[in-house]
Amino acid sequence: MRILVTGGTGYIGSHTCVQLIEKGWQPVIIDSLVNSKISVLDRIHQITGTRPAFIEGDVRDAGLLQKVLTEHAIEAVIHFAGLKAVGESVSMPLKYYDNNVHGSLVLMKAMKQCHVKTLVFSSSATVYGDSSEPPWSEHVPTSPTNPYGQSKLMVDQIMADASISDTAWSMTSLRYFNPVGAHPSGLIGEDPQGIPNNLMPFLAQVAVGRREALQVFGNDYPTPDGTGVRDYIHVTDLASGHIAALSYAHGRSGHHVFNLGSGQGISVLQMQRAFSKACGRDLPFVLSPRRAGDVAAYWADPQRAQSTLNWQAKKSIDDMCQDTWRWQSQNPSGYP
Ligand code: NAD
Ligand code: UD1
Repeated sequence: MRILVTGGTGYIGSHTCVQLIEKGWQPVIIDSLVNSKISVLDRIHQITGTRPAFIEGDVRDAGLLQKVLTEHAIEAVIHFAGLKAVGESVSMPLKYYDNNVHGSLVLMKAMKQCHVKTLVFSSSATVYGDSSEPPWSEHVPTSPTNPYGQSKLMVDQIMADASISDTAWSMTSLRYFNPVGAHPSGLIGEDPQGIPNNLMPFLAQVAVGRREALQVFGNDYPTPDGTGVRDYIHVTDLASGHIAALSYAHGRSGHHVFNLGSGQGISVLQMQRAFSKACGRDLPFVLSPRRAGDVAAYWADPQRAQSTLNWQAKKSIDDMCQDTWRWQSQNPSGYP
């Protein structure tokens, strides 16, 4: 299958491209490189022996999309391209709606024009409201609390409406919980620009000495050790979820929604200990006030993906920390 991968040089996209190639499918990447580096392509080549086709461009460029869809005889699209910093989305909502919602609309219109009707989209657990007790199934009411989350939910809704209007569409929204980890080769991984907002990349930078200590945001939550609890999923498990979803959905009409998570809640301090074990020294941390907008605890109910896609997350917290440590220690400043 020839698959257009938007945002394919990014963190999750690059790991998914590796698995697409390993499956014998042909990824064609379009990415504006706004949050990734071209050297990712060399790393994918090193891992798989194949350098995927790459087009530098923006998904909001309708003419370019139509040209790529036609010239590469694309059969399905995995749509990762988007902006993902929650805080930035609050201060720059128009930028986020334009990139994430308008970008997805341009893509779907180009797909329609070119008769490409299978789309797998990167949605997020952040679309769920925080009023429900975990575990969160796909039935949990949605009510995102920031423009980033709203933009994901809007695209999910557009996909649902389009699939009702035309049964040729196969639309799949994958709601990721907290993706972490790196390819076991240490050649590709997460490479955030500036100070990382998220726990795992921050811990990794403490481990290589780029940051002094982890700030633990809140130790007075109603959780076993008082720190925030999340569902961390290894990025290679997440990538295999895309293969499973595409295999299931291609040629199957409708809007399909799946949680991709491990189903297990892990606290900040559990993660700090697991990472300390992986890198062989006690990583320093300081207890700090809660971060505004944070929820105490949530994790996925991954039952639907398990029964329908025959997919489940397999890798442990130790795997996640060891692989992140290998990536970060081999590439202390990220990609060249
Ligand atoms: P990433 O930033 O590493 O990858 C996104 C890629 O898209 C980047 O390479 C960037 O250059 C590209 N891009 C952005 N806007 C573009 C545009 N308009 N045109 C072309 N390319 C564009 O992020 P990621 O962590 O790999 O996330 C991939 C997707 O998954 C995103 O849509 C994100 O919102 C979603 N998601 C991520 C997480 C997470 O924690 N990483 C969780 C839930 C959902
Ligand atoms: C973040 C995003 C969310 C996205 C998810 C996926 C925000 C507000 N939310 O969620 O939209 O879907 O990533 O990966 O950015 N923590 C610390 N110290 C740190 C960083 C984090 O203690 O330096 C704690 C947080 O308080 C939280 C846990 O670690 O309890 C995980 O935080 P983070 O990695 O930022 O992910 P989320 O907040 O779950």
